[in-house]
Amino acid sequence: MATEQETRPTEVTMEEIVALCKRRGFVFPSSEIYGGLGSTYDYGHYGVLLKNNVKAEWWRAMLQERDDIVALDSAILQHPRVWEASGHLEGFTDPLVQCLGKCKKRWREDHLREAVEAEGGDPDAELRCPQCGGELSEPRQFNLMFETHVGPVADEGSTVYLRPETAQGIFINFKNVLSFARKKPPFGIAQVGKSFRNEITPGNFIFRTREFEQMEMEYFVPPAEAQKWHQHWMAERERWYTELGIRPDHLRVRAHGEDELSHYSSATSDIEYLFPIGWSELEGIADRGDFDLTQHAKFSGEKLEYFDQQTKERYVPHVIEPAAGADRATLAFLVDSYEVEEVEGRQRTVLRLHPRLAPVKVAVLPLVSKDGLPEKAREIFQDLRRRLPTEFDEGGSIGKRYRRQDEIGTPWGITVDHQTMDDDTVTLRDRDSLEQVRVPIEGLGDELVGRLEAPWRTPKLD
Ligand code: GLY
Repeated sequence: MATEQETRPTEVTMEEIVALCKRRGFVFPSSEIYGGLGSTYDYGHYGVLLKNNVKAEWWRAMLQERDDIVALDSAILQHPRVWEASGHLEGFTDPLVQCLGKCKKRWREDHLREAVEAEGGDPDAELRCPQCGGELSEPRQFNLMFETHVGPVADEGSTVYLRPETAQGIFINFKNVLSFARKKPPFGIAQVGKSFRNEITPGNFIFRTREFEQMEMEYFVPPAEAQKWHQHWMAERERWYTELGIRPDHLRVRAHGEDELSHYSSATSDIEYLFPIGWSELEGIADRGDFDLTQHAKFSGEKLEYFDQQTKERYVPHVIEPAAGADRATLAFLVDSYEVEEVEGRQRTVLRLHPRLAPVKVAVLPLVSKDGLPEKAREIFQDLRRRLPTEFDEGGSIGKRYRRQDEIGTPWGITVDHQTMDDDTVTLRDRDSLEQVRVPIEGLGDELVGRLEAPWRTPKLD
């Protein structure tokens, strides 16, 4: 049963997250010195480290914690026939309407109807422009794939597409992997990489951008087992988020209605997160059936099936696909870990990130910048950084340095003071409990690595 704290609402606003990301160098608007390019972002130092940790945790869950999945890194540019076979050339479209009134803004028709319905209106009634009330054009289907050309001459034969999903790179490598990986269904192929979609209405910071990073896994199963594995992956993926600190009551599973399903899917459930903008998709878990392998077999002439030597059965495996966004997951971890609290009469902002996600694990802070303390602290820093991501910080008051580390989510702080010079002990501060304990320098690395590897429960639920 949910406790009182487990049911508290998300209090942080998107503006607060954007401000923290800018202030602490996680994420910047892209091309800022030229006035920015809508809905594109650049990751700064801590943003890179955080997103890398999110991806590393995903890989850990896919590869290290099980032995039925292999990795792949396929090209972004693929043969144009891939997108014919996959149905994206024809079916990967959004219904676009344009305001015929004053503002001429473009909208997604389906989003406008959803908004009308959410407010209790009739979704089938005539729509007006939400910005200026103007009349709207008839909807036209708009393909989301970015087009470019290979070679110096832009003619029809040179057209290629920036991949709109990493999944197709996996399907077209099914045969390669099957012959080298010594796997049989059920088995998976996992991939992390950039995808591109020319969204009509991107927005909400790094929630929906035109260039984004996916973490996708295609799990090939005997057809009769598809439903069972769909359930399995929904539970597994939900567990991944909660084990990394997302409050369970900020997650929910929502099954797609018939009219929402992608052209390749026979069933999809979204894991939704309670973002500051409301419940929104964090990860989709689709049953793609045999759609993709059958299509690529048809278009390429290759046999894309599995022959079971034991049963002598030949079949096209069905595919269960957990498809997560690395940027979206990073945003969810930022939002869920963000807290502002009062400590000794002062406000502190703290990211209560799971230690494995935290960009920096430990900060070494000399209390004063004289009497040999910085040198001693540097020695400790040099020692620790060989074991785990460590930062040395000697600028400003100790309070200011703690606040900086709290805001980037550093779980542990080491203070080096005069006593250190006498007895080789330091103060170890815990980000969440604020407990400070005196510990010997000897064994500090083991202590911190031990803490990093220990099971962790988010203090947000205590
Ligand atoms: N491969 C599923 C998606 O890109 O949403």
